[in-house]
Amino acid sequence: MTKKHLFACLSIMLSAAPLAANTAVTITDNANNRITVNAKKAGAEIQPTMYGIFFEDINYAADGGLYAELVMNRSFEFPNPYAGWEISGKVSLKDDGPFERNPHYVRLAPSGHAHKHTMIENQGFFGIGVKAGEDYRFSVWARVPDGGKAKLWIDLVDNASMGETQKFANAGLDISGSEWKKYSVIIKSKKTFEKAHLRVWGDKKVTTDLEHISLFPVKTYKGHENGMRQDLAQALEDLRPGVFRFPGGCIVEGADLATRYQWKNTVGPVENRPLNENRWHYTFTDRYFPNYFQSYGLGFFEYFQLSEEIGSEPLPVLNVGMACQFQNDTDAAHAPCTKEGLQQFIDDCIDLIDFANGDPATNKWAKLRAEMGHPAPFNLKFLGIGNEQWEAPYFDRLAIIAPEVRKAHPEIKIIGTSGPNAEDNHFYNGWKAMTELKADLVDEHFYRNIDWYKKQMNRYDDRKFYTKKGPRVFAGEYACHDSGKKWNHSGASLYEAAFMINIERNADLVHMATYAPLFAHVEGWQWRPDAIWFDNLRSARTTAYHVQALYAQNKGTNVLPTTLSINGGKASVNPVPSGEDGLFVSSVMDKNTNEIIIKAVNTTHLAQEATIDIKGVKSISPKATVITLDLSDYDADNTPDAPERVKPETTTKTLSVGKNVEFGVTIPARSFCIYKILREK
Ligand code: AHR
Repeated sequence: MTKKHLFACLSIMLSAAPLAANTAVTITDNANNRITVNAKKAGAEIQPTMYGIFFEDINYAADGGLYAELVMNRSFEFPNPYAGWEISGKVSLKDDGPFERNPHYVRLAPSGHAHKHTMIENQGFFGIGVKAGEDYRFSVWARVPDGGKAKLWIDLVDNASMGETQKFANAGLDISGSEWKKYSVIIKSKKTFEKAHLRVWGDKKVTTDLEHISLFPVKTYKGHENGMRQDLAQALEDLRPGVFRFPGGCIVEGADLATRYQWKNTVGPVENRPLNENRWHYTFTDRYFPNYFQSYGLGFFEYFQLSEEIGSEPLPVLNVGMACQFQNDTDAAHAPCTKEGLQQFIDDCIDLIDFANGDPATNKWAKLRAEMGHPAPFNLKFLGIGNEQWEAPYFDRLAIIAPEVRKAHPEIKIIGTSGPNAEDNHFYNGWKAMTELKADLVDEHFYRNIDWYKKQMNRYDDRKFYTKKGPRVFAGEYACHDSGKKWNHSGASLYEAAFMINIERNADLVHMATYAPLFAHVEGWQWRPDAIWFDNLRSARTTAYHVQALYAQNKGTNVLPTTLSINGGKASVNPVPSGEDGLFVSSVMDKNTNEIIIKAVNTTHLAQEATIDIKGVKSISPKATVITLDLSDYDADNTPDAPERVKPETTTKTLSVGKNVEFGVTIPARSFCIYKILREK
């Protein structure tokens, strides 16, 4: 086969090649490779949840990221109550405000001097990003403590410029009466600016109290007032994730049990959701006092709502009564391992399921969901209990919690964890324990380098370890971290794509896979690589994102048995010996669209020619769609400055169809290609 034969349809009858495992081959240029797809019968079902997303508030993913609030420390509850604020004039802090779990507010008193002012100014998260012509909703809880009327002035400012561009948006707001009320006003920005500040001027003559000072773009994803940043949520929708894991990660556990993620604090009116110190607060290397807290504005209601809107199954992970074991290695750091000691954690699980699915007429958590605007159930099906925990402290606690959850909600699939590693004793013991505890799925994590990935290309073929009756796999956190290069680049994404071939081929075993982490702010990250990077105005979908999206958008409904013969050799399901570069292929069919979808990843530095031979199909449409993600520029990736440097290219190819369904392709060096063929019979 030469390059001239690209997409030429051959009409050669070939005998079906026998399957052989792990045939050692050398891949050369112009190799005579043959990909044989058996489309006679649909193979294992591919779960709708198969490819999804993992969200954790790390790298400023929530406040300052996906959650579209632009004001940092809006309720003055940070340990330094003026963190994020500049104050000037007669500003004082009070703590008897209208929201019991966020009691602080500020009092702005008149200066008593015609030329002196009282004002406060918020710097946002790394500045406030605003766009020219766009509307922003300023809102505040306010009162005039002595009664009567007051006027506030609200500005968006650019402190670095001069003249007219310095103040580029302005609105007045009338406050009246001594009762706390919510006020809002729309401000239109005249300028696009990444680092604006929000300035609020107090009344010149009247004292005013202000609480929960907020600024949101009016255009949020789906227009929710307490909404998500449009471009970031759109990137999630576009990926077409089957499952959406939330809220982490280590954040589930907290740096200690007191700062663990507590979902009950994240629902109800946003003004009264108590602040929590972020688990990643202390992990910045470049800042002495990072301001990394969770407002919980993106809480569990918003999460379930977003899951529904982007079309993915929610998969919450809750605490198992343990603080992070990496940082807390004494039993005293965890909740007592007794039914009584864990009751709160049992209740958290059961109540969350009720919050998501219960009947508002009979359940108080479901009633709260309805009051928040979603009377219909969210149809939750999965619950993770524990993240990256290991050995007896975890197994014993799960053994108490899981049966209670099952008793209350047998319909929910429970996901346990095999710990932070994917190959050590904790991992093996974890799988054994999860099997004994009858977990439905086990959450495996592997942030590993390319060499590890190369050796794991057949990971899920091992059916002695992953048994038919045991739990199914949830590859809950993974990413290729090239040795010494812990940042985003095409080279790493190539091996993720190759590894995912094995996930797809083993869809009967692997029911979910979520790359991690999802988001990172360019000025506030502590972990990389990540799927999506953003600054205050822009975002970039990385090559890792594109790999995930290509799988999720082309996941199909059933696996098709597929073999590969290299250089005219024996056909094999695993043609490349472990640890080597090569060609990795899998195929699926989509019962809904009648497509046959063939995925091929070429990790070698040579283009690979191959004949694709589809058995069991009489006729196909002569038009094929070819999607190519060229990952050959090893260090390249997308950034907010160059968001489209590497992206999938889609072309349509005309196939000349003969008696047999067979055609030639060239799989470019270091690329991920998808061939979509419409079956006619
Ligand atoms: O994704 C970042 C962290 O990696 C997660 O919080 C944790 O589960 C894992 O160790």
